[in-house]
Amino acid sequence: MTPGGPGSDAPGPAAQQPAGPLERRGADRSPGADLRSPGPPWAGRKVVLGVCAGIAAYKAVQVARDLTLLGAAVDVVLTESARKFVAPLSFEGVTGRGPLTDIFAAGGAALHISLARGADCVCIAPATADFIARAAAGRASDLLTTVLVATDAPVVIAPAMNDRMFAHPRTAANLALLEDGLGHHRVGPADGRLAAGEGSGPGRMAEPSDIVDAVGRAVGAGGPLSGARVLVTASGTREPVDAVRYLGNRSSGKMGYALARAAWLNGAEVTLVSGPSAVDPPCGVDLVGVETAWEMHEAVMDRVGTADVAIHAAAVADYRPRSPLPDKMKREAIGDETAIDLVANPDIAAESAGKMRAGSVAVGFALETDDLLARAERKLEAKGFDLIVANRAGEPGSGFEADTNRVTILARGEPPRELPVMAKFAVAWEILKVIEARLGRGGAG
Ligand code: PMT
Repeated sequence: MTPGGPGSDAPGPAAQQPAGPLERRGADRSPGADLRSPGPPWAGRKVVLGVCAGIAAYKAVQVARDLTLLGAAVDVVLTESARKFVAPLSFEGVTGRGPLTDIFAAGGAALHISLARGADCVCIAPATADFIARAAAGRASDLLTTVLVATDAPVVIAPAMNDRMFAHPRTAANLALLEDGLGHHRVGPADGRLAAGEGSGPGRMAEPSDIVDAVGRAVGAGGPLSGARVLVTASGTREPVDAVRYLGNRSSGKMGYALARAAWLNGAEVTLVSGPSAVDPPCGVDLVGVETAWEMHEAVMDRVGTADVAIHAAAVADYRPRSPLPDKMKREAIGDETAIDLVANPDIAAESAGKMRAGSVAVGFALETDDLLARAERKLEAKGFDLIVANRAGEPGSGFEADTNRVTILARGEPPRELPVMAKFAVAWEILKVIEARLGRGGAG
């Protein structure tokens, strides 16, 4: 096989070498930059990205780019008509590998076989109604359908079409056959604006970040947390003072959302109980939105008895106003000073640890400004956790709101595991390794 040829790892002659970690290049410090740093579960994987003829084909360039920057070797296969929507050169520019279309190209006699055999995942984005129909019929009428018939790799399908085409009973039946009959993984379509003049409805292709995660989950199928039920709490709670004000804290939800995303990528069925957050919910996760500590308490208690893992990353208000006012407090009625009478909220983590079944793992967080490890150790014991993740408030790049965190993991009967400052997603990945080891499912050594 030639360097950079389909199925090989090495970039071809036209390659712009895929970037190393963006942090090292210093090129991208935007929130979520960690999404595009090489790492698990995409690094070193071979992905065939099939692109069909739909207006969403332009978004497939972003999928190809993100997968490449995450360390995957991406071979793009365009259908003949897809080339009318997006130029092959765009894909070559972001993957460093020339896209493929022609099953009968010179020297390409066994191209479909080498692509199909070498792939860790075949992802079709966008998948049009016509492509879905041909795939469901088992056709092998062009390079992409032929690869699909010849591969044993997991397949991810991202449908994109007009809402009426998506609602057509034939399309629904074809998709059901691909999903239920062949075990393909579907991502989307989303409900939103369609092509110009078409209004909105279900049919819009899933966002590139969700497609990238669906590929990550598919290549990790059968991963260490496969089938495990993971419950994660995230973000801060809001405790009403009156009709417009609340007591809250600075938790953004980033740490908890990163944990939920990493658990889903590892194969888990994830429920994320979250206070208000501006972070996009991770793909595939069951999001339960709450506002107050009592609402979070109820949502957690309803689910924790069936969880294999509970991770309490939320910053729960320890106290709430005893009697929130139904209307807005008026400054002219209060004057210059007032006091709010507070009453303790339930300790969700401590209460739920006792409700978990044998063999499950309870994980807490400790956020402290001082005496971090000693306080974390006390919380580990007092709240009945199996492990606790200690992080500091007020340290740059750590704790609240930051995209990174510096944590120490304390597990019962083990020496503390101190991690350097890392992206919250990378921190989440490391925490999950420790959890997996506790569950006896591989993980940290
Ligand atoms: O959301 P980010 O901006 O990304 O920030 C992440 C974080 C700093 C919020 C997160 O890393 C973190 O440390 N979360 C726990 C914050 C906290 O409330 O720590 P604590 O030491 O006060 O609580 C100890 C544990 O008990 C925590 O697991 C907490 O979820 C839980 N708890 C606390 C009080 C309460 N009434 N019920 C609880 O369940």
